[in-house]
Amino acid sequence: MLELFCGIGGCAAALGERARIVAAVDQNRHALAVYRHNFTHPVFPLALESVRESQWQAWTADVWWMSPPCPPYTRRGLRRDVEDPRARSFAAVLKQIAAHRPRHVAFENVPGFVGSRAHRLLKQTLDRSGYVFRETLLCPTELGLPNRRERFYLVAGLDGLAPWPARAGAALRLSDLLDSSPATELWCDPLLAHRYPHALHVVDPRDPQACSACFTSAYGRSIVRSGSYLATGAGLRRFSPSEILRLLDFPGGYRLPADLPRRRAWSLAGNSVSVRAVRWVLSAIPGLMTHT
Ligand SMILES: C[S@@+](CC[C@H](N)C(=O)[O-])C[C@H]1O[C@@H](n2cnc3c(N)ncnc32)[C@H](O)[C@@H]1O
Repeated sequence: MLELFCGIGGCAAALGERARIVAAVDQNRHALAVYRHNFTHPVFPLALESVRESQWQAWTADVWWMSPPCPPYTRRGLRRDVEDPRARSFAAVLKQIAAHRPRHVAFENVPGFVGSRAHRLLKQTLDRSGYVFRETLLCPTELGLPNRRERFYLVAGLDGLAPWPARAGAALRLSDLLDSSPATELWCDPLLAHRYPHALHVVDPRDPQACSACFTSAYGRSIVRSGSYLATGAGLRRFSPSEILRLLDFPGGYRLPADLPRRRAWSLAGNSVSVRAVRWVLSAIPGLMTHT
């Protein structure tokens, strides 16, 4: 497997021992430090648009997984689509898919990707290279997680695909995913709720149906629309980075380095993927998720 735009390794976390990752590639050294803290797969700190042809040839893999940058397809990122310089790396990867034709390709992005020119380019590349592919929008709440993070997924194969399983999974309660002794720094200024009475998304952990909003990389920096706040007897508090990783279903053994500043951890976790959703998506690749 080739893990492109690997970040902190959401795909590696989804795979566990089921596949060998021949290369994990990302240009963000902070993300790669967290990746290395958890996995021994070979890591390449590279901008994908500048990877040499000889390097692409050396990375022989059956499956190419990728979750490229999403700002080109979001309102906040101005929706510049393929004109956005941050979309260049994805265009470079598409050229390599056409040239190397890995047996399978899997892809994740924001719902705003749907209907973009980059989306058309992706489908055109796969079509012309002889793939069958399947695409969908999926929210981890459909798989039992108490966290909203609707995303677009696509999976492609040269020799066909297995059907996706039913959208179901062990239902987890938000209250079971919280830190036992949360850091005092997580509590918010009591004036916050008064200043933004309707704009904060607040969840009550005593509610068995409690479901957090999507955490973005701006959580902790931007007050509204970047994730949820937790109602506690002592006021509102933010979710810790570890709680966010649990909501994304990262495995219990996954660890953030002790010296990683909380702001950076929020940013990296907010950029990552729902591990449970990735597992579900990859189950369309015959034999991959049943392999132990
Ligand atoms: C949406 S995040 C994917 C995160 C990853 N799936 C995870 O589990 O953390 C996009 C990633 O692409 C990386 N990235 C952005 N532009 C890149 C480029 N030109 N070359 C390589 N990596 C890039 C970012 O550093 C970020 O980690």
